[in-house]
Amino acid sequence: MAEITLNPKNGKGKIHKEIYGHFSEHLGRCIYQGIFVGKDSAIPNVRGIRSDVVEALKKIHLPVLRWPGGCFADEYHWRDGIGPQENRRRMVNTNWGGVVEDNSFGTHEFLDFCEQVGCEPYFNANVGSGTVREMAEWVEYVNSDGDSSIVRERRANGRQDAWKVKYWGIGNENWGCGGNMRPEYYADVYRRYQSFCKTYGENRPFRIACGASDFTFEWTETLMKQAARYMDGLSLHYYTVCGNTWEHKGSATDFTTEEYYTTLGKAARMDGLLKGHEAIMDRYDPKKRISLIVDEWGTWFDVEPGTNPGFLYQQNTMRDALVAAVTLNIFNRHCDRVRMANIAQMVNVLQAILLTEGERLVLTPTYHVFDLFQAHQDAREIDCFVTAGKTGTEEWSLEQISASASEKDGVITVTAANLDAEKAEEVILLGTGAAKARGRILTGEMHAKNDFDHSPVQVQDLAVEQKDGCFKVVLPACSVAEITLE
Ligand code: AHR
Repeated sequence: MAEITLNPKNGKGKIHKEIYGHFSEHLGRCIYQGIFVGKDSAIPNVRGIRSDVVEALKKIHLPVLRWPGGCFADEYHWRDGIGPQENRRRMVNTNWGGVVEDNSFGTHEFLDFCEQVGCEPYFNANVGSGTVREMAEWVEYVNSDGDSSIVRERRANGRQDAWKVKYWGIGNENWGCGGNMRPEYYADVYRRYQSFCKTYGENRPFRIACGASDFTFEWTETLMKQAARYMDGLSLHYYTVCGNTWEHKGSATDFTTEEYYTTLGKAARMDGLLKGHEAIMDRYDPKKRISLIVDEWGTWFDVEPGTNPGFLYQQNTMRDALVAAVTLNIFNRHCDRVRMANIAQMVNVLQAILLTEGERLVLTPTYHVFDLFQAHQDAREIDCFVTAGKTGTEEWSLEQISASASEKDGVITVTAANLDAEKAEEVILLGTGAAKARGRILTGEMHAKNDFDHSPVQVQDLAVEQKDGCFKVVLPACSVAEITLE
């Protein structure tokens, strides 16, 4: 038996809804086919944007979407993607499969998509192969309403009013694909670029500096030391890779129980990783003004057999659902510093919440986790102590139960996952002060998945028993639950 004890009076503050954000890159079939099919497609669309995808995203209240990359961002020139689609410049996507990018999905199309979904756009500007002027003019193009030539150009392209794009990433992985820079050099480059990321009217950009990958703490140290006062956010990338090398990351669907626990163990390292980067940030920014933005996270397995290796297409199982639940619970618990996160990537790439094939759409197990966790968006995080046993392997010993909790409008939401692959667990909820409760659950054998013929992994009702002033649920093996108390 496990216990989750809540202390609704205490907590770390607001869980910014942007923690439930996503990432979309010009990579494989994420943008083309996944989001954009063109207005002449037989697939139902609005101005070329898939209506089924928009509807699915609205249901989970997608708060923010990062675009156009990733590595692609540092070779993307935004001017190639405006104006009449038939005149747009064609380029080779050198990062991802060497395919031709016709730029038919550009600034207007992306922002149209965000407006249809109702989410905030997060632009990642090109630092690696771009110029300061190019970035500055992109900001002006989307955020200014002054009567400048750039704004006239936007209006001639069909958009009267500024979109007010708030989030701006200044480069991506500039220690790697974004220019192979050293932290000292990038810190200076960042200071220069951000100077020209201007405020138009009330549209003040929220400037995000490129941050570290994984455990490279020296990058965070240097950026904080040299550029903290010029940033609103600092990013961090961490992928859960089951195998020991990039060449052998393991199959997304065919894995052993040991690999299941290894994957969850690696996902759970997010907690220690955040603590490490936060400790450095706290030294330079004790008031926590600067947000830590985990703008790429999720599982990265070998591509599905027979698919283009440069397209990073992988299936998604209950193992991915557990990775998502463990990670999102960790983000909630770090909400005083982590104020945005973006799972990689939204459709057809890596740990996707949606898969498409022609007109068909699959909601993956990871999608359902975002559904179960959505009540946390903009809620107040509350203290939640878990007393539970261990599961896993000798190498990867794991807390069997992962949980977090929040309160909004007098309603408490607890999200809890049972990581054990075989054993159900009874969980008692204490200290809630609630009179009634209900629950929802996602469960299945660890390999369970949804595909284009069958979608057995679905959210179901979960029985919540009231007993001696507290509540009790039974979490089946490999499950993720949402319990609502009021
Ligand atoms: O998400 C795939 C790639 O992973 C991104 O383009 C890059 O930023 C990261 O290395």
